[in-house]
Amino acid sequence: MKETAVVIMAAGKGKRMKSDLPKVLHNLAGKPILNYVLDTINHFEVKRKIIIVGYKSEKIRELIGDKIEYAEQKEQLGTAHAVLQTKELLSDFKGNVLILSGDVPFLTVKILKRLLKYHQSNNFCCTLISAILKNPQGYGRIIRDKEGKMEGIIEEVDLPVDKKLITEINTGIYCFDKEKLFQALEKIVPENKQGEYYLTDLVKILLKEGLEVGSIIAKDNSEILGINTQLDLANASKKVYQRMIQKLMFQGVSIIDPNSTFIEPGVKIGQDTIIYPFTIIEKGTKIGKSCLIGPYSHLIDANIGNGVKIWASIIEGSTVKERVNIGPYAHLRPETIVKKGAKIGNFVELKKTILGEGSKASHLTYLGDAVIGKQVNIGAGTITCNYNGQKKNKTVIEEGVFIGSNNSLVAPVKLGKGSYTGAGSTITEDVPPDSLAIARSKQRNIKGWSKRRKRT
Ligand code: UD1
Ligand code: CA
Repeated sequence: MKETAVVIMAAGKGKRMKSDLPKVLHNLAGKPILNYVLDTINHFEVKRKIIIVGYKSEKIRELIGDKIEYAEQKEQLGTAHAVLQTKELLSDFKGNVLILSGDVPFLTVKILKRLLKYHQSNNFCCTLISAILKNPQGYGRIIRDKEGKMEGIIEEVDLPVDKKLITEINTGIYCFDKEKLFQALEKIVPENKQGEYYLTDLVKILLKEGLEVGSIIAKDNSEILGINTQLDLANASKKVYQRMIQKLMFQGVSIIDPNSTFIEPGVKIGQDTIIYPFTIIEKGTKIGKSCLIGPYSHLIDANIGNGVKIWASIIEGSTVKERVNIGPYAHLRPETIVKKGAKIGNFVELKKTILGEGSKASHLTYLGDAVIGKQVNIGAGTITCNYNGQKKNKTVIEEGVFIGSNNSLVAPVKLGKGSYTGAGSTITEDVPPDSLAIARSKQRNIKGWSKRRKRT
């Protein structure tokens, strides 16, 4: 087997996306489009990996780092011009050049292996992957003669009317013999409606020279899907979500409405957990068994134990242990840990806080930079005043504390084990264990006041 160099074309802006972000960096169900291609080639043994960058190349370099070689295409003059930019990098290389597009994300290792094998065993100078699509719009079409021999590729915009019905398309994935590739690239001229150097013109050039060009047909059309517009992106995302939802359902997760549920690849969910509609679960979230999640919940990088209930809430970068009850309308911000059997109710926000086993914050509360022990009751409207405008300070609430409603806990402050605070208190000093702290002005009743007011 000859050696293989992979070249990924990713220099274009993606004009049809109508966006300032390079097309290949658009988010496809949790990761940039380009990362799908990179993940595939990481499972594929190749001698060299090169990516062609151009439009906002610094953004792509920042994302990928130095695990790949870069070729810079300063002006985006077309796919042939793009590949030509790898000439110098590949000057010492001998073997096959596998050309991929950064905007064709679902390609599998299996089909690439099939392509290479077919290319090699037939000794072609170029082999491409084609596909038969019901709706071929937007793709270059494969032109064949009456005997089915390939004659060339015509881009959608240059297609004469009588060829519009051709359903065999070019997927933009090719394997070339390196020497032949670069010799033929020099011969391409930008004579087409877009005035671009088309890589697809290579087919005609090579055939003219009497060389053989082969093709294999993709068996699964979703694999070769190219993303050019925001609509293509949304359709591709849908495919990823649907695939993920199906996988989870086969593992015993109940998903009430797959159409309104969005779960990113890599998320893990235990058996008998029910996911209610309008729920989004992102980035490496793990959920245990027998949980009830949603409706209207958004989990990002969350670690959820068994038997947890989450209703209409947002959880980011937090750990929630078994049998915790959350929501509706709670927000757990990063570095929060909620321990076994605790309860977080309506309009409660936690940030960088540990809430102990069996503790409750049931209504209208903000707990930030707090360490809260077991069996603590946080009254409605309690606020940790953790920020003095300069620095974040810590609140410590020990086991069994009872905080009355509408308290302000001015950090740094510590409430000792088993202590109580009166409703409406502003706690500025530590409270010793087992004591009651009342920190509010005493009520004064002025008798007959309202009657006197009415008379004047
Ligand atoms: C290309 C093919 C078309 C095929 C389709 C499959 C050509 C001329 N056409 O069309 O036959 O059906 O893919 O998806 O090749 N790029 C560069 N530099 C450039 C231009 C493009 O790096 O100067 C990159 C883009 O960033 C993109 C890839 O090449 O990742 C393909 O370019 P795109 O403009 O999307 O080509 P299509 O019109 O889809
Ligand atoms: Ca494309």
